[in-house]
Amino acid sequence: MAKKLALFGGEKVRKQPFPPHPIIGEEEKRAVMEVLESGKISTFIAQSGELFLGGKKIRQFEKDYTEYYDIKYAVAFNSATSALHAAIVACGLKPGEEVIVPPYTFTSTATSVLMHNCIPVFVDIKPDIFCLDPAKIESAITPRTRAIMPVHLFGHPADMDQIMSIANQHKLRVIEDCAQSPGAIYKGKLVGNIGNCGIFSFTETKNIMTGEGGMLITNDKEIAEIARMVRNHGEVIFEGQSQRTYRSDILGWNYRMTEMEAALGIVQFRKMDELNQIRIELSEYLASKLADIDGLIPPVAYPDVKHARHAFAIKYSEARIGIPRDTFVKALAAEGIPFGAGYVRPLYLNPIYHENKPFIYKYYGKGISYDKGICPVTERLHEKELMLTAVCRPPATNSDMDDIVKAINKVIENKNELVEG
Ligand SMILES: Cc1ncc(COP(=O)(O)O)c(C=O)c1O
Repeated sequence: MAKKLALFGGEKVRKQPFPPHPIIGEEEKRAVMEVLESGKISTFIAQSGELFLGGKKIRQFEKDYTEYYDIKYAVAFNSATSALHAAIVACGLKPGEEVIVPPYTFTSTATSVLMHNCIPVFVDIKPDIFCLDPAKIESAITPRTRAIMPVHLFGHPADMDQIMSIANQHKLRVIEDCAQSPGAIYKGKLVGNIGNCGIFSFTETKNIMTGEGGMLITNDKEIAEIARMVRNHGEVIFEGQSQRTYRSDILGWNYRMTEMEAALGIVQFRKMDELNQIRIELSEYLASKLADIDGLIPPVAYPDVKHARHAFAIKYSEARIGIPRDTFVKALAAEGIPFGAGYVRPLYLNPIYHENKPFIYKYYGKGISYDKGICPVTERLHEKELMLTAVCRPPATNSDMDDIVKAINKVIENKNELVEG
């Protein structure tokens, strides 16, 4: 007889929480303490010739990125959101121009477009890898379209060959949102190094973290220079400049990263491949244990990619399992296994695109829709088919993954009780 579900008072499969993330080791602590003890905690202002390009740790962190990504420029930010905003400005977009974005992503992929008074145009995603569907991009292009922002969601690279080919044909900029995909590889190329620029996030839930932080990488000198100005109140930095000019040519913000964060980032970045490898092994182990369950499809990884495994997304079939997805997720939560029913709501359904329009809306309505129904694949995934967990990450082990499998099997075995109960 199946054990009683925790939802109905039975014993939980898992009583202790999943191991805490991120892992902050001695090296991380030492790196931050060293900066504090040096007394130089944000050396963007003119100190010993550093002049707005950041202190030692910032410049080391950026250099590490240029070397690993084999790219000319890296610009550190205080978040990926600020780096995305700077990318929109630095790619030369003008207010009122349109940017193609997926609707299934973190809010700031699209709000970074709004921050420059540009218009996000949502294009649906592929149902297997959850990234922009290249087949649907061309019909969304208008004379005002200037850029595409593919998101390598949950760590899986978007179809960059097709996206770059469309972008080249229509002379569009490509800003890769790699917040969830550090170290991911598409056909032999690291993501972030394929479009005009790539952006990474170091918020504490990410594969590597600095508490808060972001990085923009590019081979384009102009993008790097403008991004640095946006980061630094719009102040101009001249070659060989020896004194502060207080001259602002463009609108800028204070998007600077501190030396403590950069010091933490240097240590974390060195560990990125190793940490990603643990994510890959945990995810593959869990996927293999779930592969035979009729009605669950574990995450897909195309053969020519390295998946960064930021999150573990399962596709769920209510018809085959016989339990509504949201009830299934609730029963798993009661067993001590945290899954989300879907990810974020399709972005265009947020109030910001309807009643709370905080941006210049003189272009709104000219063929742009944020109505329910515009991206049916995203809506179906969100409402019915997607289940998501973030626990397949270090320091978890296969035994933690086994608890997930046990709980899933237990819930399925109790289907009748659950549906009738
Ligand atoms: C896809 C995506 N884009 C952008 C961001 C924004 O990153 P940050 O929190 O560093 O601003 C995130 C992270 O939350 C993200 O997951």
